Amino acid sequence: MKSISSLQAKTLMGQAIVATLIVAAGTAWNAWPAAADDGLKPDLSLNAFMRKKLDASSQILEGLTTEDAELIKQGAKTLIELSKVEKWNILSDPEYRESSLDFRSNAKKLIEAAEKDNFDNAALQWFATTKNCIECHQHVRRERAASKKK
Ligand code: HEC
Repeated sequence: MKSISSLQAKTLMGQAIVATLIVAAGTAWNAWPAAADDGLKPDLSLNAFMRKKLDASSQILEGLTTEDAELIKQGAKTLIELSKVEKWNILSDPEYRESSLDFRSNAKKLIEAAEKDNFDNAALQWFATTKNCIECHQHVRRERAASKKK
């Protein structure tokens, strides 16, 4: 086996970071419905809808790790489609809307990179997209906490 180039090493490291981010986003999020066991049952169909993002994300991660552009494109397209569904718009404040647009635009750049078989760029665009996952979730949690205090 030939020795690993620094670019490959960087890509591998990036992939490990993304995998960690996704797991972290998912775990942090899972804590939420568990806490809502006070009669305010979470909307299960909404959860199922939102969780589709995880399936699409693992498809993208698989595509990035195996350099399968088709998988990356499929996953990113699913993410974009989900973000256009009415259900997605839980909040209507400017930050949430901007966050959704940013997310969609990064997912589009991810598709463009995959179309060019540029996997290094695709990995970068995926970092940007997962950053949007985490930031939007933080925003939603902050808004929830703020509305509870009122
Ligand atoms: C623009 C905002 C936004 C972005 C970007 C976003 N999400 Fe979400 N996500 C939400 C909201 C809002 C909910 C659920 C709200 C609720 O529980 O009422 C949610 C819920 C979830 C859930 C939990 C479903 C459950 O079981 O309760 C998962 C998992 C999730 N998102 C994953 C992701 C992943 C992965 C990404 C990125 C690929 C992502 N999200 C990007 C807004 C966003």
